[in-house]
Parts: sequence; structure tokens; C-alpha cells
Amino acid sequence: MRLICPPLISKKEIRQKVLELAREINKSIQVENLHAIIVLKGALFFASDLLRELPPIASMDFIRAESYRGCNSVGEVKIPSENLPDVKGKQVLLIEDIFDTGLTTQRIIECLRERNPETIHLCVLLEKRKPREGINISSDFVGFYIDDNFVVGYGMDYNGRFRNLPDIYILDIS
Ligand code: IMP
Ligand code: MG
Repeated sequence: MRLICPPLISKKEIRQKVLELAREINKSIQVENLHAIIVLKGALFFASDLLRELPPIASMDFIRAESYRGCNSVGEVKIPSENLPDVKGKQVLLIEDIFDTGLTTQRIIECLRERNPETIHLCVLLEKRKPREGINISSDFVGFYIDDNFVVGYGMDYNGRFRNLPDIYILDIS
């Protein structure tokens, strides 16, 4: 297993993109009413950088979902329902690290919709270019479109490792 160098996306490129995304979000939605929901753990660093570039938002919360074992999506998404945030009547900005198969995000959005938010916007740092079956949601704000490789760093992990790297790398697991 090794990280492929140089990084796919450097911390400088991430920084620029975060600023761009913050500007775009600020222009397109009313930030002062926003209820940000951060999908743990992968989106932690991204959301913390992004949210600090926005004017004051209304509130923020976390949600936890798991569908990955190693590099493979297991197709079943676990969201502990007891700690789903209260989103009734709120304008939600859901912040995710990566849109891969789309299953996790779709499941989270379904769970949130059952709780009657006013709106849900989806912001992802990375979106993999790939065909998706049975997915009827799409991202409103995307940082980078990438090829279908497994990536780590800037919050994203392989079995818990590499999250703390400031740049994003392709991981070669052969
Ligand atoms: P999805 O359900 O297949 O869209 O994947 C959802 C979650 O799997 C993402 O939010 C990530 O936490 C994780 N994931 C997907 N692709 C990668 C990757 O390339 N590296 C690290 N984590 C990933
Ligand atoms: Mg995630």
C-alpha cells in the first residue's frame, strides 16, 4: 500500500477551492439561515475550513454514516437514528467529503427529508466521475471532479489512516 506522489490535490489547491466554494455558497443561498450538517468523519476538515469562510450561519450539527470497509462500498449504509439532527423547517447545507456511489448521501438525505427541512443543499469536496445506478440526488456545490480512484487525506481515510494529511493523495493498495 502506498500513497501516489505528487498529491492529486495539494493543500494550496484545496485552500483556493474552499474560498471559491464559500463565495459560491454565499451568493446562491441565504447563509444567515443555514443549518450546516457535517458528515463525520471524512468531512471534518473540509467543513471546518469552509464554514469559517462564510458569514455567520444559524447553526451546525453532525451526522455519522458508515458504508465503507477498506476501499469498497458495502452497499448498506448505517446511520444511527438516535442522533439524527432536528432539521424541521430548517435550510440545511449538508457537507460531505466525497460523492462516490452516492448511496450514503442519498440515504442521509432520505433520513433528513423525513424530518421536514425547508430545503437541503448538498456540498461535496470531491465527486468521482462514474456512472451511478439508482441514485436520484445530485450535488449543488462540488469542489473537484476526480477519476474513480481511492483517495485519502484532508479528512479521508483508509481504515482510519491518512485522515490528517493536508493534501489529497491517490492510494495504491496493490
Ligand atoms: P458512497 O456512499 O459510495 O458515495 O461513499 C460515501 C462515503 O465513502 C464517503 O463519504 C467517504 O466517507 C467514503 N469514500 C468514498 N470514496 C472514498 C475514497 O476514495 N476515499 C476515502 N473514502 C471514500
Ligand atoms: Mg463520508
